Amino acid sequence: MAYKTLQVKTEGRVGVITLNRPEALNALCDELTTELTAVLAGFERDEAIGCVILTGSKKAFAAGADIKELQSRDQVGLYMHDPFAETWESVARFRKPIIAAVSGYALGGGCEIAMMCDFIIASETAKFGQPEINLGVMPGAGGTQRLPRAVGKAKAMDLCLTGRMMDAEEAERAGLVSRVVPADDLMDVVMEAAELIAAKSLPVAMMTKESINRSFEIGLTEGIRFERRVFQAQFSLEDQSEGMAAFAEKRAAHFKHR
Ligand code: CAA
Repeated sequence: MAYKTLQVKTEGRVGVITLNRPEALNALCDELTTELTAVLAGFERDEAIGCVILTGSKKAFAAGADIKELQSRDQVGLYMHDPFAETWESVARFRKPIIAAVSGYALGGGCEIAMMCDFIIASETAKFGQPEINLGVMPGAGGTQRLPRAVGKAKAMDLCLTGRMMDAEEAERAGLVSRVVPADDLMDVVMEAAELIAAKSLPVAMMTKESINRSFEIGLTEGIRFERRVFQAQFSLEDQSEGMAAFAEKRAAHFKHR
């Protein structure tokens, strides 16, 4: 299926979504977010997909929500129909592993959508920021919540209150991104990571993601209990039998995602 604002492809068990509005540095407009929600729903249903990559162009992952569209919104209109809410939920609640491959600008909603992914691999050219304050508003897609969890209060305050950008090196030091790689290598490195993930047992990868995400929602005792129950439940999977048998027999495991 052809999309107007996205390029979508699959490579083996990896789905790749490329934001594609070069004329607006991939600003997140209504059409793009609607298409993104639909593509993610398709990848979620597709048993042949084990990991998804969300990326943009070399110049911009996404320069934020589309300010030209946002400009004409009013409070009641946004409250009654927030065109973005469904998309933010569809990324944040996506159940399979999803990696953000960030090159260039990841600003405002762009930074926020990258943070909704499971982890971020950045090119040396990446620039992250929450510049909404320059527009007379604050971050509205998780920036004030996910950023402090990722980089701590001091840097989150610094970024959200000054509106400044931080480069890839600072983002890695702060813990926002898992790795920084040369710009030309970004997609190869991210694809390699995605293929590694997609070759694991999908239910186990999904449960691992769910358990890590749970650690941000509940206390340690409950979190440990949750983890223990899920770990115990994994002993009903064929993939657990296969993974452990393969180790004992000194061969590669062939997971069936069951
Ligand atoms: N919305 C709409 N259009 C955007 C855009 C955005 N967020 N960001 C860039 N564009 C458009 C520009 O208007 C320009 O279009 P025209 O050629 O038609 O004028 C085109 O993309 C290229 O941009 P620039 O000429 O500005 O490129 P640059 O290299 O000089 O600057 C930039 C790049 C520093 C990223 C600059 O474009 C910029 O500051 N963009 C806005 C960043 C921003 O404020 N993001 C937050 C948005 S609000 C938000 O995201 C709310 C939320 O939390 C959900």
